[in-house]
Amino acid sequence: TVVILDFGSQYTQLIARRIREFNVFSVVLPCTVPLERVKALNPKGIILSGGPSSVYDADAPPADPGVLALGVPVLGICYGLQFIVHHLGGRVVPADRREYGHAEVEITAETPLFRGLPQTIDVWMSHGDEALALPDGFIRTAHTANALAGIADEARRIWAVQFHPEVAHTRQGMELLKNFCMDLCGCTADWTPEHFIQTTIERVRAQVGDGHAICGLSGGVDSSVAAVLVARAIGDKLTCIFVNNGVLRKDEFAKVQKTMREQLGLNVVAVDAGERFLEKLAGVTDPERKRKVIGNEFIAVFDDEAKKIFEAEKHVGGEVAWLVQGTLYPDVIESSSVHGPSHTIKSHHNVGGLPEDMKLKLIEPLRDLFKDEVRRIGRDLGMPDEIIERQPFPGPGLAVRILGEVTPDRVAMLQEADEIVVDEIKKAGLYRKVWQSFAVLLPVKSVGVMGDQRTYANTCAVRAVESEDGMTADWAPLPYEVLRTISSRIVSEVRGINRVVYDITSKPPGTIEWE
Ligand code: XMP
Repeated sequence: TVVILDFGSQYTQLIARRIREFNVFSVVLPCTVPLERVKALNPKGIILSGGPSSVYDADAPPADPGVLALGVPVLGICYGLQFIVHHLGGRVVPADRREYGHAEVEITAETPLFRGLPQTIDVWMSHGDEALALPDGFIRTAHTANALAGIADEARRIWAVQFHPEVAHTRQGMELLKNFCMDLCGCTADWTPEHFIQTTIERVRAQVGDGHAICGLSGGVDSSVAAVLVARAIGDKLTCIFVNNGVLRKDEFAKVQKTMREQLGLNVVAVDAGERFLEKLAGVTDPERKRKVIGNEFIAVFDDEAKKIFEAEKHVGGEVAWLVQGTLYPDVIESSSVHGPSHTIKSHHNVGGLPEDMKLKLIEPLRDLFKDEVRRIGRDLGMPDEIIERQPFPGPGLAVRILGEVTPDRVAMLQEADEIVVDEIKKAGLYRKVWQSFAVLLPVKSVGVMGDQRTYANTCAVRAVESEDGMTADWAPLPYEVLRTISSRIVSEVRGINRVVYDITSKPPGTIEWE
């Protein structure tokens, strides 16, 4: 295990993800964890992440400098470098020139951390402080035109860089991280999908014992992979619940049930509560309010079904009630903050929406994984591409893609438009290339002409984005031909829409969804 201590950088999770890419297990812990917990993990290496603070700030995250004396190799990144310098007796000051973005780094000393790297490397920097005086025993290993970029104390086995090796803009970043993990820490590449599946199955089986588990299915990758994984562990002691919340995509309720039962062999209870949800949504226009209404209603429906299931299970000896959730790492990051620095943008994701009074114990088998890792696991579990490659779809469904009030008519209209978008994207072979592609129904009417008739109807926006994890995204440069087909099909096939626009906003500053 490589332990990554999180000082609040937006890139911390990326470090974990990069390291896993060469099949080494890594965990992210808040920098405030007690030293004992780090020791208990018996790490082969420790990485100190970047962070938004300055070491001399009063609110600098309090971490135990004892991690530097465990005798385990340490790699400091950005803030991590400053932390090392500050706590081992050097001096960190605000930099004359702050460095953000691209920089060129020259390697000036031979160190195993840089083995195999060229003399000059392109890196991604983001810092406002610099190390002025180094602690005893440290040497400089790299610099930019303006500042120090790397230090090392090989006797103490501590290395640090001022740039971010984990971001894609740092070209040789992977090699650097690999040098650290494999050569300096001596990790072995044994964290593979098979290993993950095996250990998860064993753990879940032991946890659940002769209890019973339920799982809310959404039809998406995450909950399906979580369900299949748990079903491998406990078989028919898992019951899945799939709810029609009235804002699913066209024919989705029927299609998902079929796939889950026939292809994945899951034990599914399907609840058609569409009308109930739409009644509750009547008159609601505020995005956060929509999420709340749907979330609360979902809990109510789910709660009812869960009670029935557990009641029925009682006679077969199930006493302990478990809830399986397909929570992913990015969900955890965006919805809560590790220790403050990363903020909640929307009250979204499936985290936190649990029926509390049921006292269910949670099983979250994917909690440490990124989306691409979940897909890898799903593939290894033999799940069909149709599910594995599915684009993410928000829990509140089309409700957050219908701006203004959600009415049955508008849901039907958007379902038609959305199906055309997805259909054309698939036909063009772009479905897997883009992270998400969908239609949004705007509360804007405009004038048009159709045949000889003047029309005054709705506007639909098409959104397609490329992204690695949904946290940042860029609008997809769809070919004009594809846009043309989508537009003309929507206007001619969907009654009530007479204008189509394409959204060319990246995230940030936009978000992927419109609400
Ligand atoms: P945003 O719009 O915040 O979306 O850029 C990032 C990713 O999250 C999905 N999303 C949601 N997922 N419940 C969910 O389960 C929600 O309320 C929600 N809002 C956004 C969105 O589709 C994108 O993949």
